[in-house]
Amino acid sequence: MTRDEALAIMHEFVQSPNLRRHMYAVEAAMRFYARKLGADEEKWGITGLLHDFDWEIHPNMDDHPIKGAAILRQRGVPEEIVHAILTHAPERTGLYPQTPMEKALRACDEITGLITAVALVRPSKSLYDLKVKSVKKKWKDKSFAAGVHREEIEQAVADFGVELWEHVANVIEAMRGIAPELGLDGSLAQGRQNAA
Ligand SMILES: [Fe+2]
Ligand SMILES: [Fe+2]
Repeated sequence: MTRDEALAIMHEFVQSPNLRRHMYAVEAAMRFYARKLGADEEKWGITGLLHDFDWEIHPNMDDHPIKGAAILRQRGVPEEIVHAILTHAPERTGLYPQTPMEKALRACDEITGLITAVALVRPSKSLYDLKVKSVKKKWKDKSFAAGVHREEIEQAVADFGVELWEHVANVIEAMRGIAPELGLDGSLAQGRQNAA
C-alpha cells in the first residue's frame, strides 16, 4: 500500500477539512517518530493517515473504528496497519497497543488536537512560533479544550516511553513540517484563507 492509495481512501471517506487535517497531523507525528526510531516511515505514516477514516460514516463510539477495520481489509490495507488502528480505541476494541507503532499512534492522536487548539487561540495562529510552555499552560487549564483527555494522553505517552513535554515538542516540530496544509502557518491571522 502506497501513501497515495491510503490518501485516496481517506479522501473518499472524509470530507471535513478539519478531520482531514487531524489525519495529516497524526501522519506527520507518526513519520517523525518512525524516522527517529529507524522504523518504516511509510507504514507508520499511513497508519496515522487512515486511523479515523471512518469517523464520518461511523460517527459513534460503537462503530468506530471496528466497522471501519472491515472496510480497510476489503481495500487491501495490510493487517498490521488495520490492527494498529483498532488499538487506538482499546476501550472499545479490547485491543491494546503492543508494538511501537501502535503505542506511537495512541500517543500522537489526541495531542495533535490540543496543539492545534492552542495554536488557534494565539494571535499568530501559527505553529512556527508555538512553544511548549504555551501548551503546558493550556494543559493545566482544564476548561480549555475540555474534551481532550489529559490523563489518557499522559498514560499513552508514558506507555510509548517518551517524556510528556519532550513528546509535545516533538509533535509540534512534526506538525510544523506541514503547517500550511494544517492551516497553521499564520495565514489565518493575516485573513488569508488556506487551501488545504
Ligand atoms: Fe479515533
Ligand atoms: Fe484521531
